[in-house]
Amino acid sequence: MIELDKDINDLKILISEQQIQEKAKELALKIDSVFPQNETVYLICVLKGSVMFFTELSKHIKHNIQMEFIRISSYGHETKSSQNMQAIDLTLPNLNDKNVLIVEDIIDTGLTARFLTDMFKIKHQPKKLIFVSLLNKKCARQIDIEPDLYGFEIDDKFVVGYGLDYKGFFRNLPYIGYFPN
Ligand code: IMP
Repeated sequence: MIELDKDINDLKILISEQQIQEKAKELALKIDSVFPQNETVYLICVLKGSVMFFTELSKHIKHNIQMEFIRISSYGHETKSSQNMQAIDLTLPNLNDKNVLIVEDIIDTGLTARFLTDMFKIKHQPKKLIFVSLLNKKCARQIDIEPDLYGFEIDDKFVVGYGLDYKGFFRNLPYIGYFPN
């Protein structure tokens, strides 16, 4: 059994539900403007962390969309990137020459983003590939990579909520929070 050694009462809100919802609408407008009109966009949800942002964002995209899901694990049960990324399920249809939007929860070291963009370019060769992340921890970057679009830049602190977890917990919180030291 996984022990939860954090108390939700200690959690401080960093980004509210309303801020996230407004940002998702803003990002959806930008996304609609970068993909060709009247063409289908394949939205790729990177499980598990991006599940909430993915659904919120998808509600506001005006293009015809298809939803696809892949699963990657990089953190284990720590609050620092393990740098040991595990591709658990990368099953996707043929996305050759398609419009693709990769939806991530957060870019931290950048290793997952690098892996995903390389994988899509090499394996799928999409017509247009856009990478959007709800959060961007620029100061924690270990490799030179930036998302095409992101919601909020945050400091190098471990955050939970809105899909992001600590030991599998707190994904259901409707806001982004952190535990002060
Ligand atoms: P990266 O490969 O180091 O950029 O990490 C990307 C993945 O690590 C994200 O998709 C998250 O699942 C996880 N991650 C990074 N920072 C945090 C955090 O502050 N809280 C929870 N998960 C995080």
